[in-house]
Amino acid sequence: MSGSLLLAPTREELAAALAPYRRSGAEVGVVTTMGALHEGHARLLGVARERVGEGPLVATIFVNPLQFGAGEDLERYPRTLESDLALCEREGVDVVFAPAVHEVYPGGDPVVTVDAGPLGDELEGESRPGHFRGVLTVVAKLFGLVRPDVAVFGQKDYQQLVLVERMARDLCLGVEVVGAETVRGADGLALSSRNRFLSAAQRDQATVLNRALRAAQDRAAHGLPAARWAAMRVLDEVPQTDLDLDYLAIRTPRLDEVTELHPREPVPARILVAARLGGTRLIDNLPLTLGGTS
Ligand code: PAF
Repeated sequence: MSGSLLLAPTREELAAALAPYRRSGAEVGVVTTMGALHEGHARLLGVARERVGEGPLVATIFVNPLQFGAGEDLERYPRTLESDLALCEREGVDVVFAPAVHEVYPGGDPVVTVDAGPLGDELEGESRPGHFRGVLTVVAKLFGLVRPDVAVFGQKDYQQLVLVERMARDLCLGVEVVGAETVRGADGLALSSRNRFLSAAQRDQATVLNRALRAAQDRAAHGLPAARWAAMRVLDEVPQTDLDLDYLAIRTPRLDEVTELHPREPVPARILVAARLGGTRLIDNLPLTLGGTS
């Protein structure tokens, strides 16, 4: 660890910053972000640091236009480079790659992109067509530029984590993808760069998401319908005029459909929720164990 943060806005500066580390053969770790960093990102950086030890830790900060659809919040997405750099420095990041759009997409939108497969069109992908194509394309590019050994992604964006793992494996990218646990506020709300758009009242209402997921966890031993019903009951506490539910889904940990609703033996699963509060789209998820109670 060098102890002094290097800011690299261009590919050349990134390559120059990493060159000494590459010569030493040290493992390279990366955390890809869109900035507006918070303690959730700090956790990802901490996990990456543990994995690479003295090797270089790279944070990328890039609001990727390719993953935003028409009418989404690309323009208003928070850009807070100065405080992001302070957090990176505090977390012992060695290099911050913070490129401009033309640096990542020099010829405009790329012609060749990464197809996320069928899962890319489900859950988040159903509400945000093309979103995961944009995510996987930029992540593949960032992997190509940073050439990390280890990349840490948050479980909060669970579908993204599953798809990035899948891409790394299917395309033999030679990077180990690690998932890090979601960081929550004391009220259970998952930390997100978008939480800053919530009013105090909406922030209170937003805690219903986590409470619903926990209610489902508590009932999951009785099977999928019972878990789902428990979550829906909690979500119903907030009027539909305020909370616009997008999906509540219980899937396998790899996000396949669950085939056995009442498994005799306990099986691991994942519950995922997405909803809009005012103009802000929020997502959350938790692991649960289905079945085991006859
Ligand atoms: O999770 C995010 O912040 C983004 O989707 C990512 C992985 C940085 C790609 O732009």
